[in-house]
Amino acid sequence: MARVRKVYVCRECGGESPQYFGRCPNCESWGSLEEQVIQAVAPVADGARLVAGRKSASSTQPQMALTLEQITDAPQARFSSGFAELDRVLGGGIVPGSLVLVGGDPGIGKSTLLLQMVSLLHTQQRMLYVCAEESGQQVKLRAQRLGMVGQPPSLDPQSTDPTANLYLLPETDLELIVNELIALKPHVAVIDSIQAIYLAAMSSAPGSVAQVRECTSALMRLAKREQITLFIVGHVTKEGAIAGPKVLEHLVDTVLYFEGDRFASHRLLRSVKNRFGATHEIGVFEMVDRGLQEVSNPSALFLGDRSESSSGTATIVACEGTRPIVVELQALVSPTSYSSPRRSTTGIEYNRLLQILAVLEKRLGIPLSKLDAYVASSGGLTVSEPAADLGVAIAVVASFRDRIVDPLTVLIGEVGLGGQVRSVSQMEMRLKEAAKLGFKRAIVPKGQAFPEIEIEIVHVSRVSDAIVAALPGRFHQPEPEGE
Ligand SMILES: Nc1ncnc2c1ncn2[C@@H]1O[C@H](COP(=O)(O)OP(=O)(O)OP(=O)(O)O)[C@@H](O)[C@H]1O
Ligand SMILES: [Mg+2]
Repeated sequence: MARVRKVYVCRECGGESPQYFGRCPNCESWGSLEEQVIQAVAPVADGARLVAGRKSASSTQPQMALTLEQITDAPQARFSSGFAELDRVLGGGIVPGSLVLVGGDPGIGKSTLLLQMVSLLHTQQRMLYVCAEESGQQVKLRAQRLGMVGQPPSLDPQSTDPTANLYLLPETDLELIVNELIALKPHVAVIDSIQAIYLAAMSSAPGSVAQVRECTSALMRLAKREQITLFIVGHVTKEGAIAGPKVLEHLVDTVLYFEGDRFASHRLLRSVKNRFGATHEIGVFEMVDRGLQEVSNPSALFLGDRSESSSGTATIVACEGTRPIVVELQALVSPTSYSSPRRSTTGIEYNRLLQILAVLEKRLGIPLSKLDAYVASSGGLTVSEPAADLGVAIAVVASFRDRIVDPLTVLIGEVGLGGQVRSVSQMEMRLKEAAKLGFKRAIVPKGQAFPEIEIEIVHVSRVSDAIVAALPGRFHQPEPEGE
């Protein structure tokens, strides 16, 4: 008889412990340990074992080591997902046989995105959408809302696979899902979601660490062997990580996060891991009543309403992966009514604001310690890179002085603790984006000149120089300290 042993696995970090604790000894989260029964048998989750009668001949052959030259099968080319924004995040299109995990907050639009993707692809190739959380009728209702039902067939009959179609499978048992995947052999399959499916051979509940891990590894083996591209939806925990152990992210090829502000219509798709492309790329979508629409020029979305200038506004050029995005920052400083002043940020790192306020106070003598300070990025885009520092500093000073920064000026640069303006990466790309959007002047750190870009470049080495350049005119300008 197979030997049985129990371990306790943390839902948050995947750490294992031989005994139960109220608090995970590894990541210190409370009540996250789950009992898992381990049997000393071969992994039950292998798709080949699940479908013993149907496995392909190749899967039974033991594999021999080969040199790179001996691998003669040409790798299949990437193909487009139908969304240029999704292709960009995947590193240039879908890699056949890859497994992509798509995470995101509840209701953000994961199912909508993937249903739209398969509907764009199904006129060319065979698609399978496994709706483990919704009934077939509910998915059809969504498809009708998205205008997918009754779509005309592909305009190019030459390239159309005669079996191309979109199949729905409302099923939660992984064994049955794997059988259907092998029988139907779709080019792309969506599993919505990994927390809803289960392996009947395991005793733990669907969505538990053990189930999620085993189901994902079974699907991974299947994707590689059968060359089926799988998109798996994963729910996120309240901390924002994909529910289930971190090990889930290690198992898959690509991890995408779909995020957005509940109150704004735009959605950002980010890659946080990609075996076939760069990470930190973003794709921008807008949720409208007929589903998700691509936003090919996101700067327009994050620039805010520029018809009316107000004090405390500065424009920066952030870089998300290989994409520059022009973002408007707003700052408000006002006398505090508390014993210690309030500082608040939206879309900007809180600690960086504190650091910039300290630099402005200490190096430029601007008395901010009795003032509340609020800084926000328009459109809710989160800018975490240091290139936004100079924009934050100038927006704060502009609000303090009640002055308006020229709306056609952008600010790019990192602020050092000594009050210096430091250079940042990808300057050429940022300046090109600003010039393309009609900005006339850029205040940037000392360094390279870009004569071919149609924008006036003002080089500065200290924040005080940037203040003079961005807010010209007469006002008290104290001598910087320590020079
Ligand atoms: N009629 C509609 N008009 C506009 N937007 C809609 C409409 N119906 C749904 N939506 C949008 O679609 C979102 C739901 O999308 P979807 O079901 O794809 O999200 P999800 O991430 O899959 O959610 P879950 O985590 O529950 O599976 C809603 O939050 C809403 O923003
Ligand atoms: Mg969903």
